[in-house]
Amino acid sequence: MAGRRTLTIVKPDAFANGKAGLILALLEQSGFTVQAARVMHLTTSQAADFYAVHRERGFFGELVEFMSSGPCMPLVLERDDAVATLRTVIGATDPAEAAEGTVRKLYAESKGRNAIHASDSDENAAVEAAFFFAGADVLAR
Ligand code: RTP
Ligand code: MG
Repeated sequence: MAGRRTLTIVKPDAFANGKAGLILALLEQSGFTVQAARVMHLTTSQAADFYAVHRERGFFGELVEFMSSGPCMPLVLERDDAVATLRTVIGATDPAEAAEGTVRKLYAESKGRNAIHASDSDENAAVEAAFFFAGADVLAR
């Protein structure tokens, strides 16, 4: 059965553009409740670790520089079918290809500066939540 939790990050472009609060509101309007949250400025080392799966990709350096360029907001979110639902709510990686009403269609600047991250599996959601939050911050009830 699909899990009820996922990990998202409101990315630095959203903070720079003053859209972080609007994005959080859209997530709540989509049926998610916030279980844990923090605002933090990633080091380049933290950004590289988080996106290590992409280290061989041509855009990796640009991605690390962007993700460490200013504050971001990791959140643990909860609702039924959390991972798949959130991927639908955020839209395609490239905002030019994102559906109407999605976070990236509404708020992303470009394929690289695309406003939000969301976990792509229950397994990665658990790993990514542990990256940002101590177990005691995200009690499983
Ligand atoms: P995310 O992991 O952030 O939720 O994004 P995603 O699954 O939709 O896309 P993914 O392929 O995992 O790429 C991770 C992030 O890398 C940046 N990117 N830039 N310039 C480019 O061609 C390019 N491609 C990917 C984006 O910030 C993307 O969200
Ligand atoms: Mg991804």
